[in-house]
Amino acid sequence: MSWREEYNKKLVTAEEAIKSIHDNDKVVMAFGCSEPRCIVRAMRENYKNYNNVEVINMLLLGETPWVDEEVRGHFRYNSFFASGTNRKAIAAGVADYTSCYLSETPSVLRDYIKPRVTVMSVAPPDEEGYVSLGTNCDYIETTLAHCEVKIAQVNKNMPYTYGATRKHVSEFTYFVECDEPIPEVPAPPLTEVEVKIGKHCASLINDGDCIQLGIGGIPNAICEELKDKKDLGLHSEMVGDGVVDLIKSGVINNTKKNIDNGKTILGFAFGTKKLFDHLDKNRDVEMVPMDYVNNPVIIAQNDNVVSVNSCLQVDLMGQVVSDTIGLNQFSGVGGQVDFVRGATMSKGGRSIIAMPSTAKGDTISKIVPKITDYSAVTTTRNDVNYIVTEFGIAQLKGKTMRERARALIAIAHPDFRDELSEEFERRFNEKY
Ligand code: COA
Repeated sequence: MSWREEYNKKLVTAEEAIKSIHDNDKVVMAFGCSEPRCIVRAMRENYKNYNNVEVINMLLLGETPWVDEEVRGHFRYNSFFASGTNRKAIAAGVADYTSCYLSETPSVLRDYIKPRVTVMSVAPPDEEGYVSLGTNCDYIETTLAHCEVKIAQVNKNMPYTYGATRKHVSEFTYFVECDEPIPEVPAPPLTEVEVKIGKHCASLINDGDCIQLGIGGIPNAICEELKDKKDLGLHSEMVGDGVVDLIKSGVINNTKKNIDNGKTILGFAFGTKKLFDHLDKNRDVEMVPMDYVNNPVIIAQNDNVVSVNSCLQVDLMGQVVSDTIGLNQFSGVGGQVDFVRGATMSKGGRSIIAMPSTAKGDTISKIVPKITDYSAVTTTRNDVNYIVTEFGIAQLKGKTMRERARALIAIAHPDFRDELSEEFERRFNEKY
């Protein structure tokens, strides 16, 4: 059978494809820009046909249909990352959160959660019968290998990417053709604080470094400050639009990498059409699974890796809280610890945690004497190195607890420095 015959044989409507999902199944879905929304809609509309189906993904950009009152008992949602669309449901106990390092998501799914069905978006097949997983390779490449039922929404707007994303039509159970706009994540305009943080972070990045940029406004602010750098590499679980101009202008050329030389390495894309157009049929970019891009041992094979991530709170010992506020799950661990460790192990590498010094309209300090009760530490005080706010840079590795506290108070918002100094004096019996 030719690949075209095989593809046509597997081509069904969304309603037909979802009949392969049974009661008590675990269904893992692609997330972010790769949400297979036609199939999600079909499942939501036909919710009465399902009992106790667990739907698992990283996060949803659109609505989270799995948590509506009406579908309780039919679907239960389990996410690796809390966000605006599912945070309330997790707090209310009507959805679940699973904590693990992003590097582990493929193996945690395969070895522990063991979904039977996987659903994703793909770009249409090329002349040789290979579709592409497009914006997201992450954990979905792995679930495609081990799930029993593999359903793909074929969307001609999905960029055709290379790396581990090119998959033969024989690897799928059903195809559902449905063209719709790719969900986008536009970057809000940069704030003054982000611009200042971007400048401090960029001062820690040298020509020839290999960078990872996390989530939020700060990565885009950093990209703005990197325009005069040379020969940067990019090895990052995700990127937004900010990197596109740096790649096009040759600032990021990946020529100094020890591994994947000449290639940009990404787990997933989280941006707009500007980024999707850049990725489309671009052989200089390789989309790879999380257990490669986020594996600290792989990350460390490049020299001078600089990781930049953000957080919610840092205490005076340098303990970093990035994903919880007390018992509330605010976001997820994501790749922060993977990259902090990979950058630390890389020859000449540096890890940076960058954040505004305050939150909630300057009413609370993010540098605190003690982290909020019941919050979980994301990056330990032993892993952390550079902390950056709009007021400067605190370098923590090799420093005593007393020296760390001093360095951190110096980059706290001035409105909170007195309070923090009092704590310093109590704790260390020394004038700040
Ligand atoms: N206490 C209470 N609220 C806080 C807070 C704190 N200490 N710190 C921040 N917030 C609030 C802010 O006020 C803001 O609320 P608002 O939306 O109502 O204004 C919100 O949290 C987001 O803050 P912001 O500084 O804009 O966050 P961000 O979009 O830059 O994201 C993280 C910051 C920490 C949530 C995000 O970086 C993250 O999830 N990191 C962990 C995962 C990770 O690093 N992965 C690696 C790359 S994916």
